[in-house]
Amino acid sequence: MTRLLIKNIGCLAQVEHNIRTSVRGAEMQNIDTINNAYLLIEDEKIIEFGQMELCPERADKVIDANGGYVLPTFCDSHTHIVYAGSREHEFIDKINGLSYEEIAQRGGGILNSALRLHKTSEEELFEQALERLEEMKNFGTGAVEIKSGYGLSTEDELKMLRVIRKLKEKSDMTIKSTFLGAHAVPTKYKGRQSDYVDLICTEMIPLVAQEGLADFIDVFCDKGFFTVEETAKMLETGAKYGMRPKIHANELDVSGGVQVGVKYDALSVDHLERATDVEIEVLKHSNTIPTGLPGTSFFLNLPYTPAKKMIQAGLPLALASDYNPGSTPSGNMKFVLSLACIKMRLTPNEAINATTINTAAAMGISKTHGSIAIGKQANLYITKPISSIDFIPYAYNTPIVKQVILNGKIQ
Ligand code: NIG
Ligand code: FE
Repeated sequence: MTRLLIKNIGCLAQVEHNIRTSVRGAEMQNIDTINNAYLLIEDEKIIEFGQMELCPERADKVIDANGGYVLPTFCDSHTHIVYAGSREHEFIDKINGLSYEEIAQRGGGILNSALRLHKTSEEELFEQALERLEEMKNFGTGAVEIKSGYGLSTEDELKMLRVIRKLKEKSDMTIKSTFLGAHAVPTKYKGRQSDYVDLICTEMIPLVAQEGLADFIDVFCDKGFFTVEETAKMLETGAKYGMRPKIHANELDVSGGVQVGVKYDALSVDHLERATDVEIEVLKHSNTIPTGLPGTSFFLNLPYTPAKKMIQAGLPLALASDYNPGSTPSGNMKFVLSLACIKMRLTPNEAINATTINTAAAMGISKTHGSIAIGKQANLYITKPISSIDFIPYAYNTPIVKQVILNGKIQ
């Protein structure tokens, strides 16, 4: 048993006395804080916190926060960080006027990454992904969902998922894995999309389940990718194998992806750059968490998810990075906070709730992550001294993280 004490915390933020699954609507306006606080960790869990007057005198190790703030680490509930290399030449194509869909239709985009992934060893993929995880951790992220989807063959999808399994074993980050075989139709199946959907249902999903490689199943249900009917078929098969859906929907068009996601009790529906009042209404009658990815809107010059409207409708909005080589080569959740405030007009408190507790919910881990609460995992970061919580998204390019602690371990 080891006790780690953090003292002289300028402000302990996002504290919770009763653990909530998520926060919705007007509740998102609130972040509970304790000024001039301490926090006590035993092994990997938070066991006590309060005002400095009540601070215990002894612990095995003491960190003096020197007035810095302490917040729960970000939970990033939507990423694609297992990929080979990068795609900056497509970045130039986009600057020169090609759209994301046009690049995809020419065999670029996801298919380009699939080709590269095929040629890259499991070890190399692991090393590259680990480096990205490390980068994300330094920006204050402690939990990450990672998708497959650059394999697009049984062998390569399994390869990707094994890399994610190894990341789960080797990294201090909390990781959830998602099977996204239906990310694009591979070149080999061009013109035979339904055969590829069959392959996913009859071969990939059973093998993924047999090896216990995925916590969730995802489908890119959008214009030019997979239809609502195909999505339904794959989600139905996934459900038989105990995989709850997390869906890519409404990035390129009003796709029907929200409705099919909700029908199959998706944990989250993500992207939603084109969500309308109809989608918002459907989400109101569901347990599905709408997740915006403002980094994608920024990088692809797409409309932003109507996040404020969703909060006003009482929904538990989440915001994640979507870190991937094509539409968001960044896992900086602090920048996501800034985009949420600047482009979506969320208040800093709404944005923090959307990137901590609600993204924890969108990964199925809000009992243990996403806030500072007794019994939760000690996943938090200490900032340099800052003037207020609002400073975090305001200073949109200033690094503020001084130290990260994951599962009670100083990183
Ligand atoms: O979420 N939109 C689909 N998938 C990813 C992009 C993948 C890629 O371009 O490599 C996304 O944005
Ligand atoms: Fe994505």
